[in-house]
Amino acid sequence: MAKIEQHHNTKDQKPPLTSLTRGTCATVNLSALVNNFVKVKRLSPNSKHIAVVKADAYGNGAEQVVTVLSPHADMFAVAFLDEALKLIANGVTLPILVLQGPYSKEELRRTHSLNLHWVLHTEVQVSWFDELFEDEALDGHQWLKFDTGMHRLGLPTTNFERLKNQYAKVFSDNGVLMTHLACADEPESEHAWRQTEQFLAIVKQTNMALSIANSAAAINLPKARKTYNRIGISTYGSTPFYNQELISLEPVMSLTAPIIAIREIPKGDTVGYGATWLAQRDSLIATVAIGYADGYPRHAPSGTPAIVKGQRVKLVGRVSMDMLTFDVTDLSEVEIGDIVELWGKYLPINEVAQHIGTIGYELMTRVSQRVPRRYIEEDYL
Ligand SMILES: Cc1ncc(COP(=O)(O)O)c(C=O)c1O
Repeated sequence: MAKIEQHHNTKDQKPPLTSLTRGTCATVNLSALVNNFVKVKRLSPNSKHIAVVKADAYGNGAEQVVTVLSPHADMFAVAFLDEALKLIANGVTLPILVLQGPYSKEELRRTHSLNLHWVLHTEVQVSWFDELFEDEALDGHQWLKFDTGMHRLGLPTTNFERLKNQYAKVFSDNGVLMTHLACADEPESEHAWRQTEQFLAIVKQTNMALSIANSAAAINLPKARKTYNRIGISTYGSTPFYNQELISLEPVMSLTAPIIAIREIPKGDTVGYGATWLAQRDSLIATVAIGYADGYPRHAPSGTPAIVKGQRVKLVGRVSMDMLTFDVTDLSEVEIGDIVELWGKYLPINEVAQHIGTIGYELMTRVSQRVPRRYIEEDYL
C-alpha cells in the first residue's frame, strides 16, 4: 500500500498502468483456434478455406487471430470495408472477402488497389463492378451471391440467365458464385439440402468457382463442400449444432472473473436489483466482478451455470452492470479472489448460451472492450 501511495505522490512518476487490476479477462487459446480450423479444413481436402474474422474475429481479437491463421487460411472474410481496412493495417496480405459487398460505387473505386474480393448481392452492385473494371482488373474479385432460400441477401435465382448475359464480363470464369444456407445448423432439416440442390442446378452450366458452406455445412453437408468453404464459428470452438457433438472442437475463449465478496444470506432474504431471487435456505452468496457492461447478458436467468474450483455453481438474482452473484453454499471451500469461469475450458459456451436463450456466437461477439483479452498457446490434446 505504501508503495502505491509513493507512486501517486511523486510528481514526475505516473502510477503503474496495468490492464488486469480487476482480474476479469477473456483468455483466448490460439492453439485450440488453429487446431479447430485445421480439423474442419481436413474434411474438405479439395476445397479452399476462408477464415471468417468479422466482428473482431467473433470477439476473440482479429489481430491475433489472423496472425495465427494466416499460414492455414486461403483468404479471410469480414462483414464490411472498415473491418477489411483494419486487417490490412495489421499487415494481412491474404485476399479479404467483404461479405456485405460495396455500399457505394465510390467505395469500390477507392479500394481498387487493395486485394479485396467483394460479394455482389444486388444488381446495382453488379452494375458498379461492370462499369468500373475492365476484364483484367476484375481478376476474380467478384463473388456473385444468389438467394436460394435464406431471403436476406442475394440476387434472385430466377434472374440468373438474364444477369449472366447482361453482365457477361462480371460473370467471367474467374469469378465465384455463392449462396448462404439458412438451416445448415439443423442436421435434421431438409432446408439446407434443398438450397444446395437449387444452387447446384442453376450454376451447372458455368465454369465459375463455387462457395456454399459455412461451418455447419462444411462439417455435415458434404454436397455443399465446393471450391471455397467459409468457416467462422467452428474455428472459435463453438459447435454450430446447438448441443449435438457432430465434431469435437476445442474451446477457444474462456471468460473468467474473480470473486470480490462473499456473504451469508439467511433463508427468506433476497439478492440483487429487483429482489428477484429469494433464498430458500441459509445461503452463501459470492459476488463476482463482471456484468452486462462486460458483455455478460443482462437477461441471463437465475440458474445459469458457472464453474468455481472445478465445481458448478448457479447464478442468482439479476445481472448488474459490473457484478454477478452466485450461490456457492454447496462448495466445500470458497474465498475472495477465487476465479469463476463463466464459459470456456470447463463449461461449454453453448451450454451457457442455451440457459440464456441465445447462441455461442452472440455471447462471444458481445464480450466488451472493457474485458482484456489474454492470449495463450496451450494444446489440450
Ligand atoms: C455469408 C457468410 N458465410 C459464412 C459465415 C460463417 O458462418 P459460421 O460462423 O456459421 O461458420 C457467415 C457468418 O455469419 C456468413 O455471413
